[in-house]
Amino acid sequence: MEKNDTNRILTNRQGHPISDNQNIRTIGNRGPSTLENYHFIEKISHFDRERIPERVVHARGAGAHGYFEAYGKVGQESISKYTRAKLFQEAGKRTPVFVRFSTVVGGTHSSETDRDPRGFAVKFYTEDGNWDLVGNNLKIFFIRDPLKFPDMVHAFKVDPVTNLPNPERMFDFVSNSPEATHMITFVFSPWGIPANYRQMQGSGVNTYKWVNQEGEAVLVKYHWEPLKQGIKNLTQKEASAIQAKTISHATQDLYEAIERGDYPEWELCVQIMSDDEHPELDFDPLDPTKLWDHERFPFLPVGKMVLDQNPENYFAEVEQAAFGTGVLVDGLDFSDDKLLQGRTFSYSDTQRYRVGTNYLQLPINAPKTRVATNQRDGQMAYMVDRAPDQNPHVTYEPSSLGGLTEAKPAGKEHQPAYSAKLVREKISRPNDFKQAGETYLQFEDWEREELISNLVDALKICQPVIQEKMIGYFTEAHSEYGRRVAEGLKQAQVDSTHLGSDAARDGAEKAEHSGKSTD
Ligand code: HEM
Repeated sequence: MEKNDTNRILTNRQGHPISDNQNIRTIGNRGPSTLENYHFIEKISHFDRERIPERVVHARGAGAHGYFEAYGKVGQESISKYTRAKLFQEAGKRTPVFVRFSTVVGGTHSSETDRDPRGFAVKFYTEDGNWDLVGNNLKIFFIRDPLKFPDMVHAFKVDPVTNLPNPERMFDFVSNSPEATHMITFVFSPWGIPANYRQMQGSGVNTYKWVNQEGEAVLVKYHWEPLKQGIKNLTQKEASAIQAKTISHATQDLYEAIERGDYPEWELCVQIMSDDEHPELDFDPLDPTKLWDHERFPFLPVGKMVLDQNPENYFAEVEQAAFGTGVLVDGLDFSDDKLLQGRTFSYSDTQRYRVGTNYLQLPINAPKTRVATNQRDGQMAYMVDRAPDQNPHVTYEPSSLGGLTEAKPAGKEHQPAYSAKLVREKISRPNDFKQAGETYLQFEDWEREELISNLVDALKICQPVIQEKMIGYFTEAHSEYGRRVAEGLKQAQVDSTHLGSDAARDGAEKAEHSGKSTD
């Protein structure tokens, strides 16, 4: 570079032009350095702080920008009958989005071929502020009570002593959590390794509500269906072959597809149920371990999403992005799904720690609408969230001196009524196995083969008490399912005994040749 190209002159963060970025200041060219090396000390101490804590789950991710385009109806009906959320009302209305895909268990640089659910988190920058739909690729989850989440994650992540992954710890937890049987059935099938982030579905998993102008609610589940790129999953062998060459194939696939203009698209579909307990069903509609069957609760398209722009900076956009299930706009609401309620506390709590108190001021997280709060200060306060004609002295509400005022309600508030004892209890229709059996039967033959072989591979290193409990759960789901896992484990035992005796024989032969005893 020419030294006098003023547009590209290096400065420090104080705006001082830097004329020597190669040498620190020393006493003589071989002498000790001095402490007033401001440029060096600023540069190195910023570098020392370059990393923020990785996400406690979903640490490894890739992201992209795009837009959501509403169809203006739900299936064939007017959408305003069910929700007054503005982003859905008008056909063709576009809302900018940012999406982050992820794996769950591994750290920031873990392999993207891992068997794991995939995160599918979408931030809609709507005219009413942000809406985050924080979903996964699979439509259900391992547990239904948020109290179990930290234990589940501890069991799935590496062993705290060896720092190694260990399926025995995972299955120890799962074999004592029968509600996980359905999710395990998906995760150990090819659906546990989507081919990449473009060719997978997404789902909000939890049950939410839609609220109309009258304050009336329905229960909804959200699903993303890939459009032109389709769905593709991998066998364990295919995934291992990819992993032998790269641990970043999914990030690369997404980035390169968008660079070459092959923009991935998904249709957003909803399933709707009336807002009640549905005693006619053999499961609770608030139970995230269950699918809502397609026949009774059809997938109704409400719009499509296109991802057409890569991030300009991975850290600023993808790493610092903060999604949360509490981030809803008017017309969308929470249900009483317990897992959802626990999640809603957890996300912004972790983000205040992971990114910082003012994480919502960062461009990737800030809404693209006006923000006017009385929240002030805190580490890294980047701006004052003040309305243009707000009296800057009035950082409280209510006030008669030109402070912020409350908005008018956009419609009638949804006010569910409650009358029950405060308890600690499991839901009354856990039905932990039936849908796992149905899912097993719905798989194609090769998917069932993979499921059994992947389960046997993981379970064969587990203690018998864990194996027996898991076989019991799979048998409750479907007798053939349990039988095949049991047979697979028996065969694995025989193989390892043979291997063991082969190894012992080899050892004995070697010992004979070398004249040493194997004792
Ligand atoms: C990330 C908690 C269940 C999807 C996270 C993070 C936490 C968390 C603490 C890290 C967030 C961050 O650092 O920004 C929980 C709790 C759950 C739960 C407590 C259950 C009680 C679920 C479920 C889903 C899900 C059921 C799927 C529907 C995600 C996704 C991310 C995430 C996609 C990554 C978001 C991103 O890309 O930044 N979760 N989670 N989680 N969770 Fe959950």
